[in-house]
Amino acid sequence: MTLIAIIGGTGLTRLPDLTIVRRERVATPYGDPSSELVFGQFHQQDLVFLARHGNPHAIPPHKINFRANIWALKEAGVGSILAVAAVGGIRADMVPGKIAVPHQIIDYTYGRPHTFFETDLELVTHVDFTHPYSARLRKKVLTAAHVAGISVVDDGVYGCTQGPRLETAAEISRMERDGCDLVGMTGMPEAALAREIGIDYACCAVIANWAAGKTAAEITMTEIEANLAAGMADLTAVLRHFVQA
Ligand code: HPA
Repeated sequence: MTLIAIIGGTGLTRLPDLTIVRRERVATPYGDPSSELVFGQFHQQDLVFLARHGNPHAIPPHKINFRANIWALKEAGVGSILAVAAVGGIRADMVPGKIAVPHQIIDYTYGRPHTFFETDLELVTHVDFTHPYSARLRKKVLTAAHVAGISVVDDGVYGCTQGPRLETAAEISRMERDGCDLVGMTGMPEAALAREIGIDYACCAVIANWAAGKTAAEITMTEIEANLAAGMADLTAVLRHFVQA
């Protein structure tokens, strides 16, 4: 059994039902992680929780120290990461309030430190990233949702934008033509760094809004927060069955 980490995104700065055992500030060669690592028991299972945007939620997506976060989790002995992320829905079945388990990624970010293989190399290293998410963990999340009786969208191409602004309608149309089903700001380089360091990684995306231009209405933080709050009960049920499986 490998230690599981949950990385909490917008709407999940702390994990309800986590009995905290200890908190640890981990120093890494890349600087400080977004927050301390919170070690505890979640429904009788050991896990580590990390708040991706800090606690309180104050680090914008393009300023997250993804390398420090993933390095710190590796140091802590984590073998599996379930990343929770708020996203916008592009495909018609990506309805706000629902959860999706994406299977692919397209990266539109720029200027983010995105690799561990940069300096002090003996050899140039190119990791395989054909299937960015762990098949084992995706299956485990989908089974957990099924057992919990929660209907989730079982695939999706996650397009990762730079943020922190939301997209234009034309950007979303382009992403849709590219094949994106969901849009978020934090999936990359997080997933790639996990692959580079050898941690299995999957994502539970909570759909917070229809992506730009998909409805006539302006996207507001109030709407995003309300949909995330509505999705949280389902999310915590999925997480519970996930850690217990
Ligand atoms: N775009 C990008 N990231 C997001 C969105 C969105 O519409 N909603 C929540 N995170």
